[in-house]
Amino acid sequence: MKKYLLRSLPVALLGALMMTGTAQAVDPEDAIEYRQGVFKAFSWNFGPMAGMAQGEIPFNEEMFLQRADQLARLADMPWQGFTEDSDLGDTDAKMEVWEDADTFEQKIEEFKEEVAALEALIDEGAEEMQLRRQAGNIGQSCQACHDSFRD
Ligand code: HEC
Repeated sequence: MKKYLLRSLPVALLGALMMTGTAQAVDPEDAIEYRQGVFKAFSWNFGPMAGMAQGEIPFNEEMFLQRADQLARLADMPWQGFTEDSDLGDTDAKMEVWEDADTFEQKIEEFKEEVAALEALIDEGAEEMQLRRQAGNIGQSCQACHDSFRD
């Protein structure tokens, strides 16, 4: 019994500490690393899709579908990392992300709509050309946001 108590105490303490941790503000550098990490995962997945869209690499349906699915699961993720005080630091995000938050939000929505449109095409069993064209549209929405909000 005693042994059990001694061993479970630190675990309980750790749990309490972790809960305090989440209640506190996130370290800006962590937020920056987080969003950049997710954008790297965007690239890993979207890179081959863009290559196939542009005909630079042969269309490989299995790979295309896998990467599209993974990109769809990531599409909601980076935005959380643009925390209030993470505008300065080792970041390529422009001040406009915070100063023109409405437009930034709009670009996020447009991007997510393009990703959702691709998912819908996949569900419908669309043809290669349609899939490639929609991947191109996604690429344009990445670009449109980068043009205004990334250095
Ligand atoms: C709504 C805006 C927006 C959209 C959409 C967007 N990005 Fe970005 N992206 C940014 C911003 C802002 C940064 C700069 C982040 C930073 O340095 O803090 C960035 C950074 C990046 C980076 C650099 C990450 C690093 O290593 O520092 C890559 C790669 C990237 N984006 C790829 C993509 C791809 C691929 C897409 C589309 C599939 C995409 N992004 C869509 C805003 C966007």
